[in-house]
Amino acid sequence: MVEANNTTVTLQVHRFTPRPERAERARGGSPFAKKSSPFGGGSDSAARRRPRGKQWVQEYTIPARPSDTVLDCLLTIKRTIDPTLAFRYSCGHGMCGSDAAAINGTPTLLCTATVRDWAKQPSTAPEVDDEGFRRTGDETANEPDVPAENVENNITEGSLGVIELASLPGFPPQRDLIADIDPMLNQIRKLTPYLQADGVLATTAEGKMDVFEYLQNPEQLAKYETLSNCIACGVCEGACPVYAGGDAFVGPAALIWASRFINDSRDTKAMDRMDAIDTADGVAGCQSVRACSRHCPRGIDVGEEMWQIVAKVRER
Ligand code: SF4
Ligand code: FES
Repeated sequence: MVEANNTTVTLQVHRFTPRPERAERARGGSPFAKKSSPFGGGSDSAARRRPRGKQWVQEYTIPARPSDTVLDCLLTIKRTIDPTLAFRYSCGHGMCGSDAAAINGTPTLLCTATVRDWAKQPSTAPEVDDEGFRRTGDETANEPDVPAENVENNITEGSLGVIELASLPGFPPQRDLIADIDPMLNQIRKLTPYLQADGVLATTAEGKMDVFEYLQNPEQLAKYETLSNCIACGVCEGACPVYAGGDAFVGPAALIWASRFINDSRDTKAMDRMDAIDTADGVAGCQSVRACSRHCPRGIDVGEEMWQIVAKVRER
């Protein structure tokens, strides 16, 4: 179906500009804190502290079609209206995980979210005048420009609705829609996210050394193949109410990476890996809320995997 071009969408962007470093120092912060103090700068908890700066909500109304992605809309704003708007992206089609953000409060990827799916009609709450009385003159003034079904059918003129954007929850914002995901990457790193094989070379059917590969059958591969699709986007972490609460939980993404190698028949460190996550901040932190499963862009049922890794650690 051909989509009309005379439609618009409004993006409400929660913006953030960090306070310049020099201003922090002028307020009394030590310029040497990071290097010399055990309490300065380097820890995860320091990284998680919400940075100070200016916060405000900015609204942009731009021409858009229902099939446009939210990333398309942001690029239009950046190129034609406001070059200062900051957001991160790379591949543009759900493969790199660099553009995770909160859309209408839900963590997801900007490049796979469409206007059709995420534009909401503005509130139809009655307008109230300066003295608190409801306006009665024009009862149609607050009706949405476009009925919701028209957005779905792509046959509309006027406003397609409003999309609210903010940086990924659970992580300190760096600027506008860019979150600092280093805490998650550091937690994944701590769990040795690479194959630790025994170094014994596999042999071929003839008993010869096969120096090029470790052999694995399809059933063994199936145990971790889906998990190896994780792109460390942080969407599951942003959705997890326990992770969003601070440092006390290693988070679903790190546990997915641990599980990926625990389930790999070639890896010889499964017991060590399970020991590493058998802590109060590891699997014990998971409350089985399963919010982590809802928007994984790689189709991983994160909550189910959490459940299985918890059971595996307890049963060993
Ligand atoms: S498990 Fe899914 S949502 Fe979580 S970091 Fe990996 S790809 Fe992103
Ligand atoms: S830009 Fe790569 S996943 Fe969205």
